[in-house]
Amino acid sequence: MKDWIIWENGFHIENISQNGNKFLVGNGYLGIRGTLPEYEKSEFPAINLAGIYDQVGVAWREPLNAPNGLYTYIEFNNKPYRLPGDLPLNHRMALDYRHGILYRDTVWDSGDGKIKVKSERFASLEEKHLIAMKYSICSDVDGEVRIHTGIDGDVWDINGPHYDELILSDSDQLIQAVGITHKNKDKVGVCEAYDASFSSQKQIITLGRKILRVLSFHAKAGVNYDFYKYISVYTSKDCLNYIDNAIELVKKAKEEGYETIIESHIAEWETKWSISEVIIDGDDSAMEALNYSIYHLHCIAPRHTDSLSIAARGLSGQMYKGAVFWDTEMFMLDFFLFTEPTVAKTLLKYRIDTLEGAKRKAQSYGYQGAFYAWESQEGGYDACSDYNVIDVFTKRPMRTYFKDKQIHISSAIVYGIMRYVNYTGNLDLLADGGIEVIIECARFYYDLLLKKVDKDRYELNDVIGPDEYHERVNNNAYTNRMAKYTFECAAHVIKMYRHMNKDLDDKLSAQYNMTVLLERFEDAALKLYIPQPEDTSKIIRQFDGYEQLEDVSLKELKGRLLDEKEYWGGAYGLASHTKIIKQADVVTMLNIFSGEYSDEILLKNWEYYEPRTEHGSSLSACMYAMLACKCNMPDKAYPLFIKSASTDLVQKGKQWAGLIYIGGTHPASSGGAYMTAVEGFAGICLEDGKLKAYPNLPRHWNSMIFKIIYRGDIYKIEVTKKLAKISNLGKYKA
Ligand code: BGC
Repeated sequence: MKDWIIWENGFHIENISQNGNKFLVGNGYLGIRGTLPEYEKSEFPAINLAGIYDQVGVAWREPLNAPNGLYTYIEFNNKPYRLPGDLPLNHRMALDYRHGILYRDTVWDSGDGKIKVKSERFASLEEKHLIAMKYSICSDVDGEVRIHTGIDGDVWDINGPHYDELILSDSDQLIQAVGITHKNKDKVGVCEAYDASFSSQKQIITLGRKILRVLSFHAKAGVNYDFYKYISVYTSKDCLNYIDNAIELVKKAKEEGYETIIESHIAEWETKWSISEVIIDGDDSAMEALNYSIYHLHCIAPRHTDSLSIAARGLSGQMYKGAVFWDTEMFMLDFFLFTEPTVAKTLLKYRIDTLEGAKRKAQSYGYQGAFYAWESQEGGYDACSDYNVIDVFTKRPMRTYFKDKQIHISSAIVYGIMRYVNYTGNLDLLADGGIEVIIECARFYYDLLLKKVDKDRYELNDVIGPDEYHERVNNNAYTNRMAKYTFECAAHVIKMYRHMNKDLDDKLSAQYNMTVLLERFEDAALKLYIPQPEDTSKIIRQFDGYEQLEDVSLKELKGRLLDEKEYWGGAYGLASHTKIIKQADVVTMLNIFSGEYSDEILLKNWEYYEPRTEHGSSLSACMYAMLACKCNMPDKAYPLFIKSASTDLVQKGKQWAGLIYIGGTHPASSGGAYMTAVEGFAGICLEDGKLKAYPNLPRHWNSMIFKIIYRGDIYKIEVTKKLAKISNLGKYKA
């Protein structure tokens, strides 16, 4: 059994940005990058806030980083000791990912003796607006210590600075910073209280955008000097009296004391693990990578609200504009559905609440219904720009069509809502706006249908499927099948809504002619063309004309790269005229609708597409892994599963695209690893409303044990190579 600790031994300057992601702690309201307290913006520290955005000029709109209340460094005999500038004798960082606590331990040589600094910090899982840090200094010679600790308002931003105004103040032993955002004049308030086990001379100073306490004292050799910081963050979007709340909270935390609040934080994490831990007998590394992935999903789960989703890079920074993609519904949702359905509901409620934004987007293209944002921010605003990639050769923005043509996004929302209904058995979301979402998504696809008179069928042309390297294609198999699914779901809910409640019936009948809609959706579901396997090869073409593209190997294609950062898709992208695809596409469709295809078709398509897939998105490997399990190839699934589960652990993915930082955590990959373990290897599925498991474990795994929540009950699942035991442990209490 591994010890639930991720280590970094030694100081490696080149790992600073990656460690920010790898050692992240968070609680869904905020995410704190795994940086050190003394870091300034050149080392990318950030306390990333969920769901609050700002825009400066025409730069990309992005989420806010709160003023950094953790900021701290020391001086010993008038000389500062801080990384990355002052190289240490020893240094290590450790993340306890069972409890979301980050430790650092650094020793410097002052010439006269050693100076040791230790810190530990966490974002309270119990009180989402609270951060706490314990900091200790010890030297092996006497000396004069000066601690500089406070709030650094000069935060790292990609497209900032966002705080036009920063009000720094102190009162009653507390220090505060209020940042006022550029566009909406939202306010972000940070308050800090301090407590120490020793006495010192205190002075409060403001230095540019920092407000600091300077604490001076004479340190005796061998004595540990400990102090604690309690930091609260509230914004004017949370509540009107955000600053009063911030003050109240740190006062309360200081009164309770560090030990008490860390204890309840740990207890909260233990509660999460009591349901979500996955035990694998026979493979400690896989178990570690999987539970570490689960850790990241917990860190970003919005539990402080009932309507919010998760950004593609979680709370690790402003990358990808802090926007929500199909990643949530297709890759992360299952984890929450199976272990904490209230969070799943919150994620989907966000989509219900952003329906108006989706309708506006559809309208802007002249369509009816709901076209969800490809990169969704608050209110459903689509942050995806028309020029979303910078060409490395000309340095000019390239026209991309992700926003306009990835219409499969709307079906992902429908898919998520229906999964929620099926796994929880609750119709609450449907009654609470979910039906309208499904109907509006179906209306959108209906409006897009192209009737082929000669073939008596409908088509969807000019789209982008999951594989973003091939833009503006016709009849992408995945998109068409998901649109058909949307029509089927819409027809289904229209047939059932009347029986749900009278008010709902009245509401829907006032808005729509349900009889006409039902007729249309049933007709569309029947006649929408779904590309079929070819007679002999059994291969399903990803889109019309795919078979005519150049069949080049991945290796050869990579050999043609002129610049390692060049974009593979778009107008003259390297992959555009070839069969090489960015990520699972047909395979995603086959995985979702595997029951509709023979084993031979599943296998042949897996074998055909896998070597032609770059896995250039972290969303890709898990889909191939899950389909491999369904093809009875768990050992082929295994490396792809490890790839998904280790994305944030190994941090080998691309960190920079030209001047744009694209690193961060990869929650869709984490969610995909969870799905592969639970739905792939353990084979969890629903059959006639019953929970079933068809295990298919990798050769070297002896067993897997985990729990899932299904229709209000907790089930313990124990699977061995080919056997499964499902035990009902009773009611689940949220
Ligand atoms: C992938 C998309 C994904 C997005 C955010 C892109 O690289 O192609 O499928 O939604 O990243 O993770």
